[in-house]
Amino acid sequence: MRSPILNVMANAALKAARGLIRDFGEVEQLQVSIKGPGEFVSTADLRAERTLRAELTRARPGYGLLFEEGGASEGSDTRHRWIVDPLDGTTNFLHGIPHFAISIALERDGEIVAGVVYEPTRDEMFCAEKGLGAYVNDRRCRVSARRQLGDAVIGTGMPFGDRAGQPGYAETLAAVMSATSGIRRMGSAALDLAYVAAGRFDGFWEFGLQPWDLAAGILLVREAGGYVSDMAGGHEMMSSGDVLAANDHLHLPLAALIKEAIRGERGGR
Ligand code: IPD
Ligand code: CA
Ligand code: CA
Repeated sequence: MRSPILNVMANAALKAARGLIRDFGEVEQLQVSIKGPGEFVSTADLRAERTLRAELTRARPGYGLLFEEGGASEGSDTRHRWIVDPLDGTTNFLHGIPHFAISIALERDGEIVAGVVYEPTRDEMFCAEKGLGAYVNDRRCRVSARRQLGDAVIGTGMPFGDRAGQPGYAETLAAVMSATSGIRRMGSAALDLAYVAAGRFDGFWEFGLQPWDLAAGILLVREAGGYVSDMAGGHEMMSSGDVLAANDHLHLPLAALIKEAIRGERGGR
């Protein structure tokens, strides 16, 4: 049984997902506007955000908001804030690739205390509450038990558009490619983190993400027994946008590999 707050979040996600699924079916008819290089905002995205805002605000009227499209607004309750990406995996969505999600996190006093990542096409609801574990639908989520980098499948997000020149990314990719049994670039950072939580990926790294990409997923990984850090091994993921998540055995070796690759690239300049 889900707690009342997770129910609010899951129900909001389900409601917004109904619209997304409908729009996904008509993806070619959607009016699309360009937000910036490589990044599109669809009418589906905005509609999903509107539904989420209405549902979450109705259930908890005073909470502050940080929505990808609508930005930040303070509430009368300054302790709580929703951090929401109404459609993570926009590029997939617009290309008819069925891998995208809604991500909702609840922050209390600056700490993420509840998170939901919902994948509509597979009907997978990943949710976690601080101290109470992580679940996918009704099953408990655990990070993988793999101990060897050589056996590991690692997710990543490749920089694109105006971030394509991200210094050091290509070097980290080369290093992880040769040390592991494979890399996946699925196109939704929120789901990448959920997949680490579910033990499908043994790890994940990406640079330059936004708080709404990360907030719910970070809690999922932690509550599934995994470890999440920024690239310096600290916990500034939400402000730096850089994230490295893995099970306990692989986090350190993966972090060392990535750090070394970045250092090599900078040293070589
Ligand atoms: C993007 C996805 C993608 C990641 C990008 C994000 P959006 O979010 O999470 O996997 O590589 O950095 O911007 O634009 O689809 O919400
Ligand atoms: Ca996103
Ligand atoms: Ca988005």
